[in-house]
Amino acid sequence: MRQRPRRLRCSESTRNFVEQYKVTNHDLMAPFFLLEGTQKKVPVDSMPGQFRFSLDLLLEELKELVSLGLQGIALFPCLSDESKDKRATLSHDSNHFYQKAIREIKNHFPKLIVMTDVAMDPYSSDGHDGLVSADGEILNDETLDILCKMAVTQAQSGADWIGPSDMMDGRVAAIREALDQAGFESTIIISYTAKYASSFYGPFRDALDSQPKAGDKKSYQMNYANRSSAMRELSLDEKEGADIVMVKPGLSYLDIIRDFKERTILPIAAYNVSGEYAMVKAAHHQGYINGPQVMEETLCSFKRAGADIILTYFAGEYLRGEFY
Ligand code: PBG
Repeated sequence: MRQRPRRLRCSESTRNFVEQYKVTNHDLMAPFFLLEGTQKKVPVDSMPGQFRFSLDLLLEELKELVSLGLQGIALFPCLSDESKDKRATLSHDSNHFYQKAIREIKNHFPKLIVMTDVAMDPYSSDGHDGLVSADGEILNDETLDILCKMAVTQAQSGADWIGPSDMMDGRVAAIREALDQAGFESTIIISYTAKYASSFYGPFRDALDSQPKAGDKKSYQMNYANRSSAMRELSLDEKEGADIVMVKPGLSYLDIIRDFKERTILPIAAYNVSGEYAMVKAAHHQGYINGPQVMEETLCSFKRAGADIILTYFAGEYLRGEFY
């Protein structure tokens, strides 16, 4: 036999020489859930190892992770029901706890990238990413105005990367223009370019208590049974000025990440979402799989598919070399 592929697999050192992908701290962005107040660290039941933090305890957590090389976080606010309204008013209030936290985090860790979420759902009494009309329709163009205010307020608070996750049409162009007009030409837009209407977001919506009050998100988030629509969103986001394009969820959508890799020269982010994290945790704690090994394999699969950046709840555990 002339061809024996196993020759390259027979020794560990040879395997190391020929391996192509390695996940490092430079690839990982850690999502965090933020609560108002102090001394709070509330576990998210469906996501073992994840918590909702008040700012003081989040800063402690970040201190350790930054010392281990964490490069960036994505921050999501958890609001009480009383502070939500139809127009997501607090989303663009510069004295709101979310904007204050961005300022504090940047004061403590100037080099840490703080990525925000631009969508109405955490602040909306309807639990939708856009404005809901009297007859239950999600109003695209009226929502853009609110998203722009939200993005500018976040940039003013010091956010480095603005992350529109709402899936309204035209939002990247509108936000780019609003940021530029407010003097934030250098603030990055990381667009949730291909975001699917997915049941893998369940644990996240538990964490933020942000389930839609009526209906579902299928009129704006994408249909997972269609592959071409992602390419259309990609070409629009490129034209509208996105700096980084994202695919979300990640694991069931590795084909879309690869499609992006073949079509764009922009950096690609993948969001390893809450339900994907929860499945690994649940199976590990049932004794069905080896969780830490599945975590490593999962993260590597994102790199192999073509992702440059991985948003993952595993980031902290990966950097600490632990598994909860
Ligand atoms: C909100 C938003 C969601 C996620 C990130 N931003 C939920 C949703 O669209 O309903 C999900 C993240 C996760 O599941 O980890 N616009």
